[in-house]
Amino acid sequence: MERASGADCRGGTNRTVAIADWSRQLPVMAAATNQRLGFHDRQRARAMNIRDRQKDGRTENKTTMNGNEMITEELCKDLDMQDGEMREFQVQGQSILLVRNNGVFSAVGNKCSHYGAPLSKGVLVGDRVRCPWHGACFNVKNGDIEEFPGLDSLPCFTVKVENGSVCIVTSKMELESSKRVKSMSSRSAGDRSAVVMVGAGPAALVCAETLRQEGYTGRIVLVTRERHIPYDRTKLSKAMNAKAVEIYLRPIEFYKEHDLEVWTEKQAVSINTDEAKVKFKDGSFLQYSQLLIATGSRPRELTCPGATLQNVFYLRSPEDANAISEAAAGKNVVIMGSSFIATGRRHFALQQCKSPSTTLTLCKIRQPWT
Ligand SMILES: Cc1cc2nc3c(=O)[nH]c(=O)nc-3n(C[C@H](O)[C@H](O)[C@H](O)COP(=O)(O)OP(=O)(O)OC[C@H]3O[C@@H](n4cnc5c(N)ncnc54)[C@H](O)[C@@H]3O)c2cc1C
Ligand code: FES
Repeated sequence: MERASGADCRGGTNRTVAIADWSRQLPVMAAATNQRLGFHDRQRARAMNIRDRQKDGRTENKTTMNGNEMITEELCKDLDMQDGEMREFQVQGQSILLVRNNGVFSAVGNKCSHYGAPLSKGVLVGDRVRCPWHGACFNVKNGDIEEFPGLDSLPCFTVKVENGSVCIVTSKMELESSKRVKSMSSRSAGDRSAVVMVGAGPAALVCAETLRQEGYTGRIVLVTRERHIPYDRTKLSKAMNAKAVEIYLRPIEFYKEHDLEVWTEKQAVSINTDEAKVKFKDGSFLQYSQLLIATGSRPRELTCPGATLQNVFYLRSPEDANAISEAAAGKNVVIMGSSFIATGRRHFALQQCKSPSTTLTLCKIRQPWT
């Protein structure tokens, strides 16, 4: 059983501390963090950028400060791009998305924080770019994720326009970070409220993270009847032999750092709204101030004769996926259901099985929308 309890872990994350320290040391930062820099830091940054600029237009300039390499690079001329346009640029081997909107340039990472799609191939509407693969949305001014799937925001870079040249000003360290976790509040001992989430899938996880991002300091408990902390269920039909730990949405340390409790193998059996209590199968209960029910859906079970035979599987958990993968290797397989999940399952089956179409092993694929 895996359990991440936030009880003994308070304060900011190591990552947050590292970024904060870094922001004090560097003169030029991403637009988002730049706001935190003082006047003298910004003056110093401006002076350094001017000093760094070299003779021939599109030149890359580097300065080393506190061991971190600063980079100023011209991306294009301001007249090269029109309002509402976005373009991909390579800077030091990293893909950057440059956007021009209402005459203002902004730059963010070009790789979607979900599965890495190139955002330059997506759709830009106002200050928002929509990912071409699964539709996540990011604010191009600050890189924040505004619609899911995906959990993380994009790195955001300073853009300067001088003498008609559009330049990105950043550091090597910043360029290499493809994702950014929004800053989050911690639990406060004085806050006695508790948000309980029945279910620990992506819906509950995003809700928990959003609460912390928006400053909620009470207790947050995610409860799942499964034995795993939140994982990416969508991968189950694509990599059926993947171990659960390989598809966790966040590492276990993340929950400790942000005071998010995850109770595993706890099945909710009833809710008493008068007393604000969730009761579990093992007889225990949990008091809540606010309750979120995010229990997802489940497969419609087969009712035909033979449905309970040994080699009939349902695909919902990592254990189901691993069992199907093992049982199906070199066998003939029938997949019941023919929509998206079955397509992913079929792709895997083509690689693993003798045939994905005739009967020996039978699996029914969960249709999440039924
Ligand atoms: C094999 C497979 C492939 C998929 N592929 C895709 C895809 O390619 N693209 C896509 O967009 N979507 C896909 N989906 C759908 C996607 O996984 C779901 O839309 C998503 O997981 C829903 O998230 P959720 O948090 O609402 O619920 P879920 O991820 O279903 O999580 C529900 C949570 O509730 C818990 N729970 C349920 N009942 C109780 C209870 N009584 N007590 C305690 N805990 C309980 C569960 O343990 C779980 O933690 C796929 C689904 C499957 C099964
Ligand atoms: S890769 Fe962008 S939303 Fe999935």
